[in-house]
Amino acid sequence: TYVVTENCIRCKYTDCVEVCPVDCFHEGPNFLVIDPVECIDCSLCVAECPADAIYAADQLPPEQAHFLEINAELAQVWPVIAQTRLPLSEADAWIDRGEKLRYLER
Ligand code: SF4
Ligand code: F3S
Repeated sequence: TYVVTENCIRCKYTDCVEVCPVDCFHEGPNFLVIDPVECIDCSLCVAECPADAIYAADQLPPEQAHFLEINAELAQVWPVIAQTRLPLSEADAWIDRGEKLRYLER
């Protein structure tokens, strides 16, 4: 599976969702996750993300490893998003800021 990691938080550009052939992105208030059961590992979403937030699960940077579980958990409660929309208004200010997990809204 592929995994959305920390740099998506407070950005949520949503370019990723439009290319997913199986609509396995799920949307929360300020973050998206990938449903690991539905993802077919096509990798199409990776290049779409302006924040470079999406990784293959087996290539996750060690400090992002906990996002594997976060994606699996929140994909079960958040609704599917399949169409790109405007990024969050502060997205460009929050990209690459790091230490964003504390801002994750559930
Ligand atoms: Fe969707 Fe492919 Fe990305 Fe998985 S790797 S989330 S199937 S676009
Ligand atoms: Fe997030 Fe990147 Fe998609 S910022 S919403 S993973 S395009």
